[in-house]
Amino acid sequence: MEIINNPQELQNLSLMLRSEGKTIALVPTMGYFHEGHLQLMDAARKQADVVIVSLFVNPTQFGENEDLDNYPHDLERDSKLAEERGVDILFTPTKDSMYHPDHSTWVEVPDLAQNLCGKSRPIHFRGVATVVTKLFMTALPHIGIFGEKDWQQLAVIKRMVRDLNIPVDVQGHPIVREDSGLALSSRNVYLTENEKKSAPMIQQGLKQMRMEVENGEKNSSKLKEKLSHFYTNNIPGSEVDYIEIVHPENINILEEVDGPALCAVAVQVGKARLIDNLKIKV
Ligand code: PAJ
Repeated sequence: MEIINNPQELQNLSLMLRSEGKTIALVPTMGYFHEGHLQLMDAARKQADVVIVSLFVNPTQFGENEDLDNYPHDLERDSKLAEERGVDILFTPTKDSMYHPDHSTWVEVPDLAQNLCGKSRPIHFRGVATVVTKLFMTALPHIGIFGEKDWQQLAVIKRMVRDLNIPVDVQGHPIVREDSGLALSSRNVYLTENEKKSAPMIQQGLKQMRMEVENGEKNSSKLKEKLSHFYTNNIPGSEVDYIEIVHPENINILEEVDGPALCAVAVQVGKARLIDNLKIKV
């Protein structure tokens, strides 16, 4: 596995690979790999000649009071794991090589970035859309693979690629979970032992909501209120950031569940802000 930190060098290499007819898959990440990231790499490996993983803790998607400075990192461990999964190139640019001091071009998808995580993190998706565009322009992949755990992020990127005619096949990969049901996240390291025991209730609650929908409940307010109580009662010390029922593609909030619907939640559990989602109706 080759480690490249210069964007220009990666772009030149990708241009050469493409001219040789090689297919390229890119898995963008912020590092501190867990099985969720690694399964995206496996999916990439199955489909492309060359697998590029980017590891960049993108400052422009973090708000002022967020965990940019404390974001977990361990490059040595990450490069070992990526190599074991058959990654060809690990792209680890510096902040300065990605953003000029007077960087002023942004990619925004406002329609999809207002609700859910966009509400409490107003500049987040602008940062994500911009950096993913830059990564696409640098790695020049045919395929880009993203996790469904960050459902809204995936929806934003799909829309961006459609709207800007970016020639990348954006693929979503199902959420990878612990046996307990807790969605894997780099931020799970912030959880204490006790918090780890109750955090799986996040998915449990979502499954209960899906069951209520299957039993005929359509009223979103009722469903959301019930889930909120469930979290208060089952995850001690937790605080719900949001519980929303949205259309899976356009992320519009649904008052009634009578067609395709996804419930997305963000719950603060101790120091960790955990997100999860489940399709409650197809
Ligand atoms: P990061 O949080 O490191 O996640 C990298 C990729 O792994 C994302 O596509 C995310 O959805 C996926 N992922 C994380 N946990 C997962 C899980 N439990 N199951 C399946 N996939 C999972 O998301 C980002 O980085 C950044 O916003 C990025 C897209 C790299 C832009 O900076």
